[in-house]
Amino acid sequence: MTNKFKAAPYMERANDILSKMTLSEKVGQLVLFGSMSQLNMDDMRQGKIGSLLNVPDVKTANAMQKIAVEETRLGIPLLIGHDVVHGDRTLFPVPLAGSASFDLEKIERAEAVAAKEAYHEGINWIYSPMIDIARDPRWGRIAEGAGEDKFYGSKVASARVRGFQTINPDTGKPYACACFKHYCGYGLSEAGRDYEACDIGERTLYGEYLPVYKAALDAGSMSCMSSFNTLNGIPVTGSKKYLTELLRDNWGFEGLVVSDWESVMELIYHRVTSSDAESAKLALSAGCDIDMHSGVYSEHLEALAKEDTELMAAVDRAVLRVLCVKIAMGLFEDPYRDEDNEKYFLTKEHREASRSLAESCMVLLKNEDGTLPIKRDGKKWLLTGPLADARFENMGIWGGRGNPETIVTIKDALEKESGISLEYLKGCEVEGNDRSGMKNAARLAAGCDGIIYVCGEPCQWAGEGGGRTDLSLGALQSEYLKLLSSLRKPLVTVVLTARPLAIENVHSSSRAVLLGWQGGVELGNAVASLLMGDKSPSGRLPVTFPRSTGQIPLYYANLSGGRPRWKYPRRYRDCDSSPLYPFGYGLTYGSVEYSKVTLDKERVTRGETVTASVSVKNTSDVKVSEVVQAYFRDVVSSVATPEKLLCGFEKIEIEPGEEKNVSFTFEMSDFAFLNEKLEYTVEPGEFMLFIGADSTTENAASFELV
Ligand code: GLC
Repeated sequence: MTNKFKAAPYMERANDILSKMTLSEKVGQLVLFGSMSQLNMDDMRQGKIGSLLNVPDVKTANAMQKIAVEETRLGIPLLIGHDVVHGDRTLFPVPLAGSASFDLEKIERAEAVAAKEAYHEGINWIYSPMIDIARDPRWGRIAEGAGEDKFYGSKVASARVRGFQTINPDTGKPYACACFKHYCGYGLSEAGRDYEACDIGERTLYGEYLPVYKAALDAGSMSCMSSFNTLNGIPVTGSKKYLTELLRDNWGFEGLVVSDWESVMELIYHRVTSSDAESAKLALSAGCDIDMHSGVYSEHLEALAKEDTELMAAVDRAVLRVLCVKIAMGLFEDPYRDEDNEKYFLTKEHREASRSLAESCMVLLKNEDGTLPIKRDGKKWLLTGPLADARFENMGIWGGRGNPETIVTIKDALEKESGISLEYLKGCEVEGNDRSGMKNAARLAAGCDGIIYVCGEPCQWAGEGGGRTDLSLGALQSEYLKLLSSLRKPLVTVVLTARPLAIENVHSSSRAVLLGWQGGVELGNAVASLLMGDKSPSGRLPVTFPRSTGQIPLYYANLSGGRPRWKYPRRYRDCDSSPLYPFGYGLTYGSVEYSKVTLDKERVTRGETVTASVSVKNTSDVKVSEVVQAYFRDVVSSVATPEKLLCGFEKIEIEPGEEKNVSFTFEMSDFAFLNEKLEYTVEPGEFMLFIGADSTTENAASFELV
């Protein structure tokens, strides 16, 4: 069952409008202009611009809509787009962080809040969700997605599309048009260098990297953004194979495709065209409907189409898609927004939604001897570290219209809410050579019973263009860590980052480690509530954390390889080849026990289902949230298949002493893989179903597909 966007209900009206349009007006609908300072108002009045980006506020949005609706010949409203990547004014945890909640409802809720706030900014088109599968945290944009796994990434993609396209009860139309991106394969940017070539075997591409885009499409996303990159040598923005044959002919996408920023013109830099006119023709013919800001459609399409009936037909097809989306969004009836809009932002319920997601996505990575939660027992703690009281550095990778002053820092929250006494010392910056701040640490710590060190990566280091060749904490923060751990006090380290870091030194030096991510406006309150035990950590990793940058790419769904690990364990001379923290990993303040996996049948025919069950017992005296994860292995297959693949998860709350039964029911198609001919197939033979706390579980039962 899919909610795939269907253009048919809008096509008659769209065709009626199209029939009245001049070629210049048609091309105008395919032009997105992204710079208000350079916007030509005559072009606007002549209907030469159909979409805008980077419109600063609702007043300007209304003014631009007014020109489009009331001063152009046909009154076609504008799509007004914006990057609302993790919230609008109410900033949420960055998407990779939110994904760690394994709570699809909270993820959807976050995007619904974001879409509602964006609506009141005059934005009706959101360039999200970014869903590129990524297995290389050197790539700064891994922070924008849902991690390394196609099954979970697809679930998150669907939830985020639903959230953005939440229906506004006042209009009966979506608050925003979602735009899944970056189609496709952008997460494969070579060596984590943004914008580089993306090369991968077709089986892994179609089997592991492309399904998330299909999921977003099936969830009803009305638009899609073509990516900057080449994919196996083909620039996607000019590729009929990806933009038409796969996306439309095969998957049935009926929404619109917008290029990434100037990526139509950039086809010339890929050296697949030798002129802007050629780029315009290649991209439009490939299926890229709107040119984001490069100007080559505006410059060349009219003259080209006049000489080329096929291109003219392509123009008409593209215009119809754009018009259908604008009609579906209700923009003709509801183009303007309330300019008295401050009341819609950062409301109590919006902040609560951000805090709830933040508390659910933070991951307890280590907790020796029950160091956490911190007791309200009158003891004194030294709070220190460059990110403990940082606002701007914790704005997330696309803070957009957020305001640093709205961020609750960890220092704010611990001072206000925690009920413990604190000393505070910044200690050092995130990088540099100034050690002067560290010298007071020993003296202050001497009067304290424990240390809370808040370190990590400022948000500016991740995101677009945010590649790093070294994912360690860096020299200065590591030196300070060493100093703090030498003070012989219980050391709790909170790591704030938008992406995986290679933090083996943090793990070995700290009694407890909490991953706070880039956690949005409620970062401090969420960290404080978890450190103090008012809430119990329940996040799990949607992406692998390496010990060393040199291990990358490192992910759980790897092939077995020909030399078994039990016989040939060493893969590196200088590093343990296992992850520091594996996919799906996360601790709680309690403890649980999993029963053996049981199956409802051991011999299964193709048309049947199989149900795998476990009971999960809370063996502690605190309530825990457990993300029960199911993985499968096709034991013998005609091509090598991953040792494990996620096929189910359920986040449950278990009271102390309580035992809960969790079951997953699968059809055989859930275990399909791409055979040598790249056809999805399920072969008879033994399958193993694993159910456990993370991707390293060996708790499994087998069945035979006959
Ligand atoms: C950027 C990004 C894309 C964003 C677009 C518009 O370069 O690649 O994700 O939506 O331009 O800002």
